[in-house]
Amino acid sequence: MTTTLIRNANLATMTNDSISHLPNHALIIQNQRIAWIGPDSEIPAETNPTEEINAQGAWLLPGFIDCHTHLVYAGCRAHEYEARLEGKSYQTICAEGGGILSTVHATRAASENALTEGASKRAQDFIAQGVTTLDIKSGYGLTLESELKILRVAKKLGETLPLRVIKGLLAAHTLPPEFTSKDDYIDHIIAVTLPQINKENLADYIDCFTETVGFTPDQTRRLFRAAKALNIAIRLHADQLSNLEGAGLAAEFGALSADHVEYTSEASVKHMAESGTVAVLLPTAFYYLRETQLPPIQSFRDHGVPMAISTDCNPGTSPSTNLLLALNMASTLFGLTPTESLLGATINAARALGLQNEIGTLEVGKSADLALWAIDHPIQLVAQLQSPPLIKSWFSGKHQE
Ligand code: NIG
Ligand code: FE
Repeated sequence: MTTTLIRNANLATMTNDSISHLPNHALIIQNQRIAWIGPDSEIPAETNPTEEINAQGAWLLPGFIDCHTHLVYAGCRAHEYEARLEGKSYQTICAEGGGILSTVHATRAASENALTEGASKRAQDFIAQGVTTLDIKSGYGLTLESELKILRVAKKLGETLPLRVIKGLLAAHTLPPEFTSKDDYIDHIIAVTLPQINKENLADYIDCFTETVGFTPDQTRRLFRAAKALNIAIRLHADQLSNLEGAGLAAEFGALSADHVEYTSEASVKHMAESGTVAVLLPTAFYYLRETQLPPIQSFRDHGVPMAISTDCNPGTSPSTNLLLALNMASTLFGLTPTESLLGATINAARALGLQNEIGTLEVGKSADLALWAIDHPIQLVAQLQSPPLIKSWFSGKHQE
């Protein structure tokens, strides 16, 4: 058994509402898990480390978690960015066959190898920012075969990269060209796509784009009832462009998270609080679409709804792999304190994935997913827009320089 001792570190363990600083502390990794945390002066005498790291006062944090990405796609939508700057709305671009559909065409045409290559380059960007867990949604294939292709690529990334990869089925992203009725397409997902993906164990949860340009609340409910019957966890793209009470609907189904939530009402926030549904904030998409409706941050705080932060990495509304920038935007644009932003990429992102007992904090018994940073204080990671000052990360106890 290997025993790794990291000593002389500033630990930020991350609790519900604080970074919880432990100065001059040590952490021991055994069997891929955090086995001991304590002051340097109290390292057990019997510790016989196979590897010892003197952190020299660097900061040790839980590895960051990006809990909402669409990492696997092909094509580029820079021309849509240009069109939006000229005044065309995201909704108009979608209605004209651009938007999500344009990525669907490019992704269907791409080979599994080409998709893997593009996505793993983006995944490396996340690794360079101390990310140890990455969410990946499907949704740019829509047919059974192409959704399977995307989720297999996501699975392969989890097997070949050190990252922990969480996979979500977002077949209900938009109406594919093969269908003329959204109801018929939802029926198809329920009858064909969902059972097959479930059989192959390719998705940890189901997601849906509930929006005027996506699917109605009734269609979403039908899909979620089918997912519940199969015992599949639920998350939802909700209230991004309008208020369809999507976050409340997500809460009704006990969803792990409602994501975007700019237009979410107070009534929905209350339902989220009751069901423990996390609000996933995606400030880069807000910025990139030049949205002006701010998510109800104070209401989330008042009702005790945990807030997570993610990049929403996707080719259309957030072509970014920069989680640290998203943390900065959550504070600059949405008014989260830097501590809230850091909690949003650790403990609360773990909650959004249902993994709060496994990752997201430094606690004995949890997986040793760690990142060591050359910083004076963790809020520097939110405040500075520079190269990530990462020294090294550990993924389930294995380290990467
Ligand atoms: O999270 N909201 C829906 N899906 C993506 C955008 C998809 C796209 O435009 O390609 C999002 O913003
Ligand atoms: Fe998204």
